Amino acid sequence: MKYDFDEIVNRENTACVKYDLRKELFGKPDVIPAWVADMDFKTPDFIINALKKRLEHEILAYSIRPDGFYDSVIKWIKDSHGLTIEKDWIVFTPGIVPALNFAVLSLTSPGDKIIVQPPVYFPFFNAITDHGRIKVDNPLKIIDNRHEIDFGNLCGLIDEKVKMIMLCSPHNPGGRVWSLNELRQIGELCVRNKIILLSDEIHSDLILFGNKHIPSMSISDELAELTVACFAPSKTFNLAGLSTSVAVIKNEELRNRFKKTVESLHVGSGNIFGTVALQAAYENGRDWLNQLLEYIEGNIRYVDQFCKEKLPAVKVMIPEATYMVWLDFRETGMNSKRQKEFLIDECGVGLNDGRVFGIGGEGFQRMNLACPRSTLVAIMENIYEKMRLFI
Ligand SMILES: Cc1ncc(COP(=O)(O)O)c(C=O)c1O
Repeated sequence: MKYDFDEIVNRENTACVKYDLRKELFGKPDVIPAWVADMDFKTPDFIINALKKRLEHEILAYSIRPDGFYDSVIKWIKDSHGLTIEKDWIVFTPGIVPALNFAVLSLTSPGDKIIVQPPVYFPFFNAITDHGRIKVDNPLKIIDNRHEIDFGNLCGLIDEKVKMIMLCSPHNPGGRVWSLNELRQIGELCVRNKIILLSDEIHSDLILFGNKHIPSMSISDELAELTVACFAPSKTFNLAGLSTSVAVIKNEELRNRFKKTVESLHVGSGNIFGTVALQAAYENGRDWLNQLLEYIEGNIRYVDQFCKEKLPAVKVMIPEATYMVWLDFRETGMNSKRQKEFLIDECGVGLNDGRVFGIGGEGFQRMNLACPRSTLVAIMENIYEKMRLFI
């Protein structure tokens, strides 16, 4: 079946974060939103149909996750990344941000140091500091318009207080798919120093332009014993509102500590719809996903070409994964504060201010390209119309 990603779906007044919080977040109710990481595409029909079918049974009482839930996770991860995992290693989590917090709470202690690599998805920071752990930054470097890990600096940061490294794999923002060599180096550091690797792999299905995601757990048996890997269908199939994800933890002791936290907070039941949707997505989603990725690649090419031709002061970091692009506005001469005013008030577009992603975000904007091409055209033309007046 051929899916239509050009279709405009009106999301206004559906209690959706992206559209219905615009007044609150941007001060204007009508900016074209290209910020929070969800998609303006319909959740695919095979998921909606599975949810409708479940609704035909008109009791939505306490539920369990059937074997099919676990089987579909195992098969999807195997087919996608060649990684074999076992049912026992899978722990349900009601979202990946909760999972990051559970991991910090259960596997580290107050006062421990946790390393992050900014600019990075900002809830990483709170998952550390909200629980009295110490955030240690290993800022990414930009080499040839691509984020690279500063291994020299990373090694110098390691001491006996460092208990965890949070890895965003693939990376958000910037879209790096970490290479085998990079993952091996991180793995060696973790194994040598007994550091837990918290590997957020939520974007691992959204791999572009022939790149290949390598799961952290596949690097070595020793690293697998120290890894908490987080996966979800939420970004891939636009299901974030169903709060359903999994943590994969091979090491029994770590897994039991993690599970104890989930159980003590009574957040392990999840919801019927999340269970049904995950299973439907992982059992039927390959063809839809391939078409989605092709469309996203087209959107990225469009934005890159547009900037090269009409907005040469804006540099696009071409993502290897994810549907977000990291835009370098520094050559426009506007600082971040001015960029924000310019984009919101003058261009009428709502992007993510790069500063929220921590060190390395100043002067950058993150733009979400998971929208019909016509929405993207409107965003780019709006920016061009205003920017050409002063560049
Ligand atoms: C790296 C990363 N982790 C986690 C999330 C959110 O996960 P969840 O909605 O399952 O909490 C996002 C959303 O953008 C993300 O980019």
